[in-house]
Amino acid sequence: MQHNSSIKEVLIDEQSIKQRIKELGQQISNDYQGKTPLFIGVLKGAWVYMADLLREIDVDCDVDFMSVSSYGNGRQTSGGITIVKDLSVDCEGRDVIVVEDIVDSGITLSRLKELLLGRKAKSVEMTTLLSKPSRRIVDVDVKYIGFEIPDKFVIGYGLDWDGRMRHLRDVCVPNE
Ligand code: IMP
Ligand code: MG
Repeated sequence: MQHNSSIKEVLIDEQSIKQRIKELGQQISNDYQGKTPLFIGVLKGAWVYMADLLREIDVDCDVDFMSVSSYGNGRQTSGGITIVKDLSVDCEGRDVIVVEDIVDSGITLSRLKELLLGRKAKSVEMTTLLSKPSRRIVDVDVKYIGFEIPDKFVIGYGLDWDGRMRHLRDVCVPNE
């Protein structure tokens, strides 16, 4: 059984996620007609979303991954990121779409965008399955958002709680 005693509430169920990702896939595919975007998944959290989103994309595309960690206390606009695993392809001249699980302070995505533009990506757009607008510290323009959620810690569908629970099919709120 997936939903054991550590789950308090299912916030977004599997079917709703599936439906929304279908819509986002169509929207992105329309916007990128005639282009070959490079999708960059942010490990580890984005892996499940990336796998489902990419199968709703019907333009030619490339896929790569990065792993970054944010430093500072995450509550300061001075927060930065360090690269734990870098891209294995060159993003110069590419139409990049960064794929995230959730945007919280916005620091990770805003720093990643700066970094990729610094490497001369032709364009950088971003998609996230989840967004917590009330937590934003840095203004970041995420073009494709799955769901806006309240300021609750969530797990499942790639999101972890101390490394666990990424495999849950729904986005859930854990018990304390
Ligand atoms: P940001 O730089 O503050 O936007 O950080 C976003 C990152 O924080 C995400 O990629 C997640 O790894 C993590 N995060 C933020 N909120 C949650 C949550 O509710 N559950 C699990 N991870 C979260
Ligand atoms: Mg993440």
